[in-house]
Amino acid sequence: MARLCGTKLNKDCRKLQMTQEKNQFGFTFSGPKKYTRLSPVFVARVPQEGGVQESEQVVSEGELPVFDKNSEEPRLAINIKSPCPVPEEGIQRCREVMESGKMFRYGGLTPGANNPDQTVDDVSLVERSFADVTGHKYCVALNSCGSAIFLSVYAVLQKEKERLSKIPGPTKILTNAFTFAAVPSAIVHAGCEPEYVNCTSQFVIDVEDFERKAKESGAKIAIVSHMRGRLCDMTGVAEVCKKYDITLIEDCAHSLGCDWNGIKSGSSEHGTVAACFSAQSNKLINSGEGGFLVTDDEEIAVRSILVAGSYEYLYKSHLAAPQNFELFEKLKFETPNYSLRMHQITAAIIQPQLPLLEGRYEKHRYNYAIAERRLCELDGIRVPFQLEGANGVGDSLQFNLKGRNWDEANAFTDECKKRGVPMEIFGAHDNARNFKTWQFALPPTDCETSYKHIEYACDLRLPLHLTEAEVHTICDVVEFALQVTA
Ligand SMILES: Cc1ncc(COP(=O)(O)O)c(C=O)c1O
Repeated sequence: MARLCGTKLNKDCRKLQMTQEKNQFGFTFSGPKKYTRLSPVFVARVPQEGGVQESEQVVSEGELPVFDKNSEEPRLAINIKSPCPVPEEGIQRCREVMESGKMFRYGGLTPGANNPDQTVDDVSLVERSFADVTGHKYCVALNSCGSAIFLSVYAVLQKEKERLSKIPGPTKILTNAFTFAAVPSAIVHAGCEPEYVNCTSQFVIDVEDFERKAKESGAKIAIVSHMRGRLCDMTGVAEVCKKYDITLIEDCAHSLGCDWNGIKSGSSEHGTVAACFSAQSNKLINSGEGGFLVTDDEEIAVRSILVAGSYEYLYKSHLAAPQNFELFEKLKFETPNYSLRMHQITAAIIQPQLPLLEGRYEKHRYNYAIAERRLCELDGIRVPFQLEGANGVGDSLQFNLKGRNWDEANAFTDECKKRGVPMEIFGAHDNARNFKTWQFALPPTDCETSYKHIEYACDLRLPLHLTEAEVHTICDVVEFALQVTA
């Protein structure tokens, strides 16, 4: 069971304790009442006065731990950057697919359930399964989430051509200033202009700024991005979209398994017309590259399937597509083919991971809760919590360095890296999430507000394979590095 630190709880910690009482994590902690400041393994190796090193020695209340810069410990022995391996079943299936040579998306290898003369392709099967996971009617499997965002925009532009043509100037799309570069890139790719919205100190879209920008810009499309699985106030976003007649797309690249007051991220219950998920290596599903567009909207589904590269009558083999073949025929010849289909091998890799998702969420949440609880107690950092109402998965954790300049921030991350805990800082000059680097679509100066929140925000990966002891070691390293580089 989790052992948590905390000789003195700061304000943030008390808040966390309160939210934990509401069972935010889906389980309760039953650690000792008086927590150790550092994990016992590390404390045992910190040189104590008189040189005594008892294995069970812990730092008690009021006593400050000693930090020796030259100490070997703490150090994490495993690689937190390594992605999740493919389950054996997926590896076997890849072999079968490759041996058959039927690797084309519409290659078809599995005998059809109703007609043994027909075959079903792995991509169609995984589309059906993924739609079930997110709770949508329709799903299109693609080569990336970036492609899913691009196709969502494309499909909305086509579907709403008439009303959008009445708005003069370039088509503007409201989106987060703080997100991954793939999001504004997809907007530019679709021939539109991003209208950036600031984030709050919790790294989510600021609903007040969202409304202000919606009003000022007159934009009729929005892509709300849930960076690092942090869900914004979806009730507020949905209200603004309804009020200003804005079509909502959700970038759920990193929010599989997350929900807002019990409503899954990407759900059409918030008025979302299309939601986009990623299967890139650092996500809850790992196929290296891969993405899904899910929707409950028939026309968006048909247009996305066609434009992804379903030509002639290939759409008939989809298993999570509208059965309105008339609509496919009507739109087929006016739709370009952008060839963004998912590969059969990708689908074979993903399929066996889907039944494992619930277990993955649970493990991530457990580890995250421990890390958050420990880190929020440290003086040199601030750990922004998820919004109340947001239920994250926690495969990464973000915290802000307090009162440091860049030299001091780099000294901290260098020390962590030296001790096996590499992490990035969002505001760094070479980080793809730093919008100041997006020369293809730079945000306006009012986005300095967002920059203040992300400038010294550290992004720490908490991969699935971490044990509880390793989570503690990571926290030890962070605490140690903060102290010795202070
Ligand atoms: C928030 C966000 N949106 C979009 C993407 C793009 O996903 P993909 O790499 O599958 O295109 C990512 C990728 O990491 C992301 O983090």
